[in-house]
Amino acid sequence: MNIAQIRKDFPILEREIDGKRVIYFDNAATSLTPNQVTDSICEYYHNYCANVHRGLHKFSDEASEKYESAHRTVGKFVNAGKDEIVFTKNTSESINLVMYSLLESGFFGKDDEIIIPVSEHHSNLIPWQFAAKKSGAELKFVGMKNDFTLNMEDLQAKISKKTKLVAIAHVSNTSASLFPVAEVGKIAHENGALFLVDAAQSVPHMPVDVKKIGADFAAFSAHKMLGPTGIGALYGKNELLEKMEPFNYGGGIIQSVKLDESTWGKVPEKFEAGTPHVAGAVGFSAAIKYLEKIGMDNVRQHGKEVTKYALEKMSEIKGLTLYCTKDAEKQGSIILFGSSSLEAHDLALALDEAENIAIRSGLHCAEPFISALNEDGLARASFYIYNTKEEVDIFIETLGKILSAFG
Ligand code: ALA
Repeated sequence: MNIAQIRKDFPILEREIDGKRVIYFDNAATSLTPNQVTDSICEYYHNYCANVHRGLHKFSDEASEKYESAHRTVGKFVNAGKDEIVFTKNTSESINLVMYSLLESGFFGKDDEIIIPVSEHHSNLIPWQFAAKKSGAELKFVGMKNDFTLNMEDLQAKISKKTKLVAIAHVSNTSASLFPVAEVGKIAHENGALFLVDAAQSVPHMPVDVKKIGADFAAFSAHKMLGPTGIGALYGKNELLEKMEPFNYGGGIIQSVKLDESTWGKVPEKFEAGTPHVAGAVGFSAAIKYLEKIGMDNVRQHGKEVTKYALEKMSEIKGLTLYCTKDAEKQGSIILFGSSSLEAHDLALALDEAENIAIRSGLHCAEPFISALNEDGLARASFYIYNTKEEVDIFIETLGKILSAFG
């Protein structure tokens, strides 16, 4: 992987603020965007801007073809069919789609249970809180062990034939733990439960095969994998999506409409009410083609190398605690950390101030989990294909200086 060459595709990395480049370690929040993606979006607006599936003219034909082909590209990337990929706004909306559709159909009842790990991002927690409250089902939580691995004994103890759904992140957006999703999915299915994977932090960073991990549903966002904001995907097994009701109602989802009732079109149209984010789909597709050219094994390998290097260096800094497995093989390209001498927000501000180092701090949309580790929040550095060990060196040196000034 030629990082220097890759960096040339990201003009934002050339930008200097106060005479210094930005070291962007906030990739778990959103990734940067290469020229190939922004060019593809401009090309849509400059050359064939039109609504999809609504016009007989040439622009509409071209836009519709590109929009449909984006479904195929995204599907192929995770080993799903075109009729198994629904475009949504983002991962949260993908999970909400599944939740609302199941809830409205009466899938969850009073004696049923939903199981998620205690560490989930709010987007894979709040929808299930809502479903449990509305249906009377019980929301149960699987714990994590001290080494930030999933407590599988706890899962086995809590799951039963009452469990209707197990939902879990593939890679935690905080501890970065790479959860054994295939194993969890097998246990879910043995108990007759549906299995949903929040793949927002895994699909951008490693090869993910939705069939191999046994997901009934998987959700991810374009903006964490070099694509634009405002578009995400829901993978759903076709036989499940066929049976499910839409989550949004409006134009584009119908087969036929009478004044008093309507019938639905095919998957994925059935779930994509209103004018979709055509430019976003085109950009999403370009982002995937970019990643495919690098190769997802190489993306994962680079992520592991940078993470391993940073883990080793950070472990040597006095007063710093790492909240992760500390093993790059067992985690994503994220390091969650905190210091006894400086609050996470102050640490993030100091890094930004000193060397334009961008990290995230606070509760990371996982408040129950993070506040149990540190009620003031924690800091998080997260890496991607354009990050280098040299950037990690500057980060480590700056972090060391900041902490010794406050230690
Ligand atoms: N889900 C994003 C994060 O973890 C926003 O930062």
